Amino acid sequence: MCGIVGFSSRRHSAVGPLVNGLRRLEYRGYDSAGVALQSDGGIRVYKQTGKVGELEKLLKEKLPAAERDAFKMGIAHTRWATHGLPTAANAHPHVADGGRLALVHNGIIENYAALRAGLEKRGVAFASQTDTEVLAHLIAQFDKDDFLSAVTQALKQVEGTYGIAVMSMRHPGEMVVARKGSPLVIGIGEHETVVASDVSAIVAHTRQVIYLKDGDVALVTPDGVNVYTLDNAPVSRDVQEIEFDLGAVEKGGFDHFMLKEIHEQPEALRNTIRGRLDKTDGTAILSGLNLTPRELAAVRRLVIVGCGTSLHAGMVGKHYFESLADIPTSPEQAAEFRYSNPIISPDDWVIALSQSGETADTLAAVRESMRKGALVSGLCNVVGSTIAREVGRGVYLHAGPEISVASTKAFTAQVTALLMTALKLGRTRRLSREEGLRLVAEIERIPDLVGAVVARSNEIAAIAEKRCKAEDMFFIGRGVLYPTALEGALKVKEIAYLHAEGYQAAELKHGPIALLTEKTPVVALLADIPGKEKTVGNVQECRARNAPVVGVVTEGDEEAASHVDDAIFVPRTSEWVAPIVSVVALQLFAYHVARLRGCEIDQPRNLAKSVTVE
Ligand code: G6P
Repeated sequence: MCGIVGFSSRRHSAVGPLVNGLRRLEYRGYDSAGVALQSDGGIRVYKQTGKVGELEKLLKEKLPAAERDAFKMGIAHTRWATHGLPTAANAHPHVADGGRLALVHNGIIENYAALRAGLEKRGVAFASQTDTEVLAHLIAQFDKDDFLSAVTQALKQVEGTYGIAVMSMRHPGEMVVARKGSPLVIGIGEHETVVASDVSAIVAHTRQVIYLKDGDVALVTPDGVNVYTLDNAPVSRDVQEIEFDLGAVEKGGFDHFMLKEIHEQPEALRNTIRGRLDKTDGTAILSGLNLTPRELAAVRRLVIVGCGTSLHAGMVGKHYFESLADIPTSPEQAAEFRYSNPIISPDDWVIALSQSGETADTLAAVRESMRKGALVSGLCNVVGSTIAREVGRGVYLHAGPEISVASTKAFTAQVTALLMTALKLGRTRRLSREEGLRLVAEIERIPDLVGAVVARSNEIAAIAEKRCKAEDMFFIGRGVLYPTALEGALKVKEIAYLHAEGYQAAELKHGPIALLTEKTPVVALLADIPGKEKTVGNVQECRARNAPVVGVVTEGDEEAASHVDDAIFVPRTSEWVAPIVSVVALQLFAYHVARLRGCEIDQPRNLAKSVTVE
């Protein structure tokens, strides 16, 4: 969703770093972009609809290279429209005080209508339909001697969420940033400070960062940063080091981030697993959970909350926890869960699944569960993210930055981490050491098994070529492979703009089968695990209606392969690992279908990587 970059330097122009920073945030999904630049002469604002490339063209036209050096401080933004259409007027930065104050904002000001009415009564004229502009004018109302307190006074009137960066000609060289519910990171360089909603826009400048906490406000200058509470009391925040380098947020020779991230899976999974398998006792070592065997043994029910791909990973997790640890498990869509007045008891364990650790509904589900006294842990990829910090215990995926909007490596890492968690829980219950050791050996093989599927990319591309013109597709699977069917359909929807539905294999005949013709390919999950024969029966029902069938089939299972038009082969595994190898085949299938259809793969229309609004 929206992205923020701020830059303040003693030596360098802010123009290049701001535009490059926005480019690093492009993956989050947006529909307009803008920048405000400060020099001794005042603030200049440039805004444009469309991609950052359009903003660059505008800057080239309006801001000659020779003039750029004068602007050593600036703020920039990519907007994903919420209040008002994606127009240049609604794009950020928004200005107030006759153009002397400029602000960028992520999040939503919920009481903006009341605040706007109040400001209009006082004669303030608005130039946009956004909630953000209200905040710019509100700060301007208080902006006299002390910039920081002008911002905090305004923020105290705001209900909702925000990550902001603001600058004012009344306080040249100062930038104030603040966060509540929307991430903000400050990079400390040499005589320059970089602010961003995401570390990927910072790592090109410095790896020393401060992650602001909710309720923090910071005064930023080229020489560093001072952090305060909303009551202007100084607080100290640790400087941390970003774990990855610039290469992790670049395409590295691949056509798309999505393809790069699919290929990175063996390595990402090695990192997820590293140091977490106990080969003596046949269990998993997940010290971030910080739970004693006694506490683990006391868990009576598991609830897994998440959205999108993370929800699908949670649905796979249900099979693991119920089969390996005998614990009833409900995967819940986080928004539905948070508003359902959920019944939670103290022996419930709620696991929040989120790649970004920022998804608004998942975060709210976490807070609701904590409020009701559940044990809550996180399973996040982004280190220092809001969910990870609020729950204070959990398992990091260590899958590295995921840039493509369509999630791939985070999914397989989540499922692998859930399998390790189920192993650990299982070993506090009925799972024997021998069974545990077998599972440990199997988990160790996951990276190589996944690598074997990735190596089939060309074969999968050839199958995708045959089916890429379809406008509807069905994905079917049963048991532990049903969530994989949902995930396959989601991938195709997200990046190939093709109508696709995931169904339990048996459910297809209760309605959807009426839609099957020779134009509706069915992708069937046929890995050789319990239940496969029954899915083969469902495949026959599809073929009897002339639907072409693509099967994801275990290598060597010629019998299953003989029932489908095209087979994508995956290595033989236990039922626990089958969803992981099968989903990689579907990721590649979706990728190639989208590529052949000429779709924008890394930034699909209307989608955002991290959904920080409800
Ligand atoms: C968005 C993304 C999906 C992601 C979902 C949940 O919809 O486009 O790829 O699965 O949010 O995100 P999270 O960061 O919580 O896993």
